[in-house]
Amino acid sequence: MPLLEVRNVSKRFGGVNANIEISFDVAEGEILGLLGPNGAGKTSLFNSISGEVTPDTGEILLDGARISGLGPVSCAGLGVARTFQVVRSFDTMTVRENVMVGAFSRTASPRAAMQAADETMTFCGLSARADRPAWSLSPPEKRRLEVARALATKPRVLLLDEMLTGLTPTEAAEGVQLVRDVQARGVTIIMVEHVMEVVLPLVTRAVVLNLGRVLTIGSPAEIVRNPEVIRAYLGDRYAPA
Ligand SMILES: Nc1ncnc2c1ncn2[C@@H]1O[C@H](COP(=O)(O)OP(=O)(O)OP(=O)(O)O)[C@@H](O)[C@H]1O
Ligand SMILES: [Mg+2]
Repeated sequence: MPLLEVRNVSKRFGGVNANIEISFDVAEGEILGLLGPNGAGKTSLFNSISGEVTPDTGEILLDGARISGLGPVSCAGLGVARTFQVVRSFDTMTVRENVMVGAFSRTASPRAAMQAADETMTFCGLSARADRPAWSLSPPEKRRLEVARALATKPRVLLLDEMLTGLTPTEAAEGVQLVRDVQARGVTIIMVEHVMEVVLPLVTRAVVLNLGRVLTIGSPAEIVRNPEVIRAYLGDRYAPA
């Protein structure tokens, strides 16, 4: 049985069909890419999976049980965590306090939350920044903080929304290693990313969205050879010579 199932999910905002009848499965332990041009509906789908919005039709199942429509707190409690495309840290709080916010979804004890936060910061390479205010972090550190706060909720599924965007090649390579380390911990990952050279080596399969719909689902090799994907998203650079 797949760990996560997206079944026939549609979501409309006014006149915009952000997601149209989207269906796919995610296997436990997989890194799945969620790709597609700007406005394709990637973040909207993350919002439905993480419980922030309720799909108009369809449902999302975790381990066979419906999670769509339960709200973000319940979804986090059941093991779905995410990072945000536009970093959302609590700027005046310290890095440790930010990560503790995630940990409090698992414990009411400040001591236990602090311990969990410290362990997660070490894992994410943020220990040296623990007592700094979040606003003072560099852009790649802020991305790591998003990951750390999400991981502190002890997720089974982690949704990464453009966590490597805007980073230098060296910073992106460090981010890739962090993603691999998270997967090695047994966390299943769905990642939205635009830089194909970075995302395709990481993923087992990718779902490509276009205009709210699934254009195709396949292995990285299948994706880069698909003429429709080249036309809608990748561009001529990927066209067969
Ligand atoms: N809350 C909302 N209210 C109105 N329209 C929305 C809302 N959320 C998303 N949309 C619209 O839905 C469509 C899909 O947006 P979405 O943010 O999911 O795309 P995306 O694939 O994440 O794009 P990008 O790569 O630029 O981040 C867009 O046309 C967007 O304007
Ligand atoms: Mg987006």
